[in-house]
Amino acid sequence: MRNVTKDTITDAFVAYCAKTRDPRVKFVLSRLAAHLHAFAKEVELTHEEWLLAMELLRRAGEISSPERNEFILLSDLFGLSALTDMIGSRGSGTQFSNLGPFHIEGSAWLEVGGDMIADNAGEHVVFYGRVLDAQSGAPLAGAVLDIWQTASNGLYSNQDPDQPPGNLRRRMKTDAGGGYAFTTVRPGPYTVPDDGPAGELLRATGRHAWRPAHYHFRISAAGRPALITEIFPDDDPWIDEDAVFGVRESLAVPLVSETDPSVIPFTLAAAARLKRPFYRIEYTFRL
Ligand code: BEZ
Ligand code: FE
Repeated sequence: MRNVTKDTITDAFVAYCAKTRDPRVKFVLSRLAAHLHAFAKEVELTHEEWLLAMELLRRAGEISSPERNEFILLSDLFGLSALTDMIGSRGSGTQFSNLGPFHIEGSAWLEVGGDMIADNAGEHVVFYGRVLDAQSGAPLAGAVLDIWQTASNGLYSNQDPDQPPGNLRRRMKTDAGGGYAFTTVRPGPYTVPDDGPAGELLRATGRHAWRPAHYHFRISAAGRPALITEIFPDDDPWIDEDAVFGVRESLAVPLVSETDPSVIPFTLAAAARLKRPFYRIEYTFRL
């Protein structure tokens, strides 16, 4: 092709892809090219700006490892991860939110009503509720909740040598009524890693790196895709400016002050050692 121009390059790309076997791959790549071309034309992208972006991506690759994916962080900071979660969230189901990079497979099991406070400092929280079928409202017995959170210092166990391995990470199976409950601490807000290209992006745009405190959940029940989401105490100072756009109205919840553990409709292993007052969060997940 010798006569490609600014006006024909998108069609030329699509023609090059004519032999793509998978129709979804063909569609997604053609549309990606169309949007990239339109973007370059709209902003009149200069060679220097293009090179800067290519160099940023090269350095993102350089700083990435099996434990750290700088490309995901860039996607998070651009709102692309959040947008994908919003597109993927199903009608009446609980909305999706960030998986984040700190999940570890294979956490220890905890019985319903079990304790995660252990030796952790901070405010005590009783977190409980039910897992329901989003369509029928029927309880999902035996659904598996994979739960992970930071300690009150804003660090996950795999970032903090002072926390025992597996701290504040548990899996729990819902009871016959779809119920779950655990005692824990209020997590701390934290900053996303800003020592690489993602940090440069933040600084170049005058943005901060803070995420409001949150509890992560991955909930699986037979015959349906897993729900990956986060629950945010709604009084967090960063609740309305999450660096990675993870907060939704339906995922921000009040921490209700309580003094009497008997108001909680579950038997709590740590009831006797709860600080008074403690907080409770009641949340219904719908899959
Ligand atoms: C997290 O919630 O763990 C997280 C999400 C996006 C970027 C960094 C951390
Ligand atoms: Fe997180």
